Amino acid sequence: MKVLFIGSRLYDDVAYHVDKLGIESIITESNEEAPNLDLATKYYIVPRGMEKPMEVAIDENVDAIVPLLGIDPPLMAVALMKEEIEEKHNIPVISSNVNAVAIASDKIKTKKFFKSIGINVPPANVLKKDDFETEEEFIEKLGFSFPIVLKQGEGQGGKDICITKEFSDVLDYFENFDEALIEKFIEGSEVSIEVIGWNGEYLPLVPVYKGETNLEGIHPIKRLRYGPCDFKDIGNDEFRKLAKHIATNLKSEGTIDMDLIYSKKENKVYAIEINTRPSGTRYLSFACTDLNPLNLLVDIASGNFNVESLEKDMKDYYTLEIPVGDYEGPDPQEPLKEYLNGNFIVHGPKGYQRITIRGNTREETFEIAKELTGNDYTI
Ligand SMILES: Nc1ncnc2c1ncn2[C@@H]1O[C@H](COP(=O)(O)OP(=O)(O)O)[C@@H](O)[C@H]1O
Ligand SMILES: [Mg+2]
Repeated sequence: MKVLFIGSRLYDDVAYHVDKLGIESIITESNEEAPNLDLATKYYIVPRGMEKPMEVAIDENVDAIVPLLGIDPPLMAVALMKEEIEEKHNIPVISSNVNAVAIASDKIKTKKFFKSIGINVPPANVLKKDDFETEEEFIEKLGFSFPIVLKQGEGQGGKDICITKEFSDVLDYFENFDEALIEKFIEGSEVSIEVIGWNGEYLPLVPVYKGETNLEGIHPIKRLRYGPCDFKDIGNDEFRKLAKHIATNLKSEGTIDMDLIYSKKENKVYAIEINTRPSGTRYLSFACTDLNPLNLLVDIASGNFNVESLEKDMKDYYTLEIPVGDYEGPDPQEPLKEYLNGNFIVHGPKGYQRITIRGNTREETFEIAKELTGNDYTI
């Protein structure tokens, strides 16, 4: 069995699993300074784009391709490559197709998609710079009032997002953009959930909690997060059902996640975003369920994905994830990205490191956090 991995930056997540399965691994990577290159059997430094990886896949006669890309821009090129290489060379690519990527990579299309399958979305409108002059006119055209969230169709990690109560910020925003997707600000709890899909079968993992939406616009990647969710009026099965409904209709493949806002006041879930790539919350999902989302992609590549039995294997641990910047606690044990010999994983680049902790109870995760960092965390 031979698998091509596109991108080396996330490869250490799967390295242990790939070796354990005896898979021959090839990485293509465009940055020769990128980490993890030596963890594969073989690697190629290639120009950006999917032309060369496709050539390598064909020349090397690989059995499958697993894209491991943590950013949005290359996803459409990957999807186009998938279309071609699956059809012409019968090499499966474990990621989403063109249609799913087109919907997820544009927040305006995502919204239409959510609506079309009966999912709640925050009230929204698309306005152009010339659509209004005064605040009154702006609010009239918008159809709702402040606070609001201005966004662009494309973006991740809070890029080009402005959350505000002030019309002056709107004017500033339109200095930089001609058009914006403008949503009503929803007060609520931010939740993410991943779904692994292949061949029409979908496995939703676990809803994780990422903190409350806020007018300061602090993005969830900067917050303490935990899993699974524990809301009083909505069970985690409901989130899993919703996630499965979304993935099934999107016809996603490989790993995706969705960003949701749960309003306790209304007991209502709003969907805001879908990402058709490895999730920023994958370590939390892994800690809770004992299913490593990226290892599951490797399993799919090796023809091994049975939702029914995975549902049975899924565990119920608790997890806590803390942004620490630079981790200085006790050394994690090998393998570094698995929970085999320890109860925590340190990940992310220096300066932006996070610790994901696994425990049998929520209290235990906080105790471990204190041992590792010396700090008391509360939620
Ligand atoms: N309608 C909304 N109401 C409240 N907060 C929002 C809303 N839309 C976005 N946000 C905040 O902005 C963050 C980023 O928005 P999102 O659409 O997920 O874009 P990104 O691709 O940058 O993650 C969200 O995680 C949330 O904190
Ligand atoms: Mg988001």
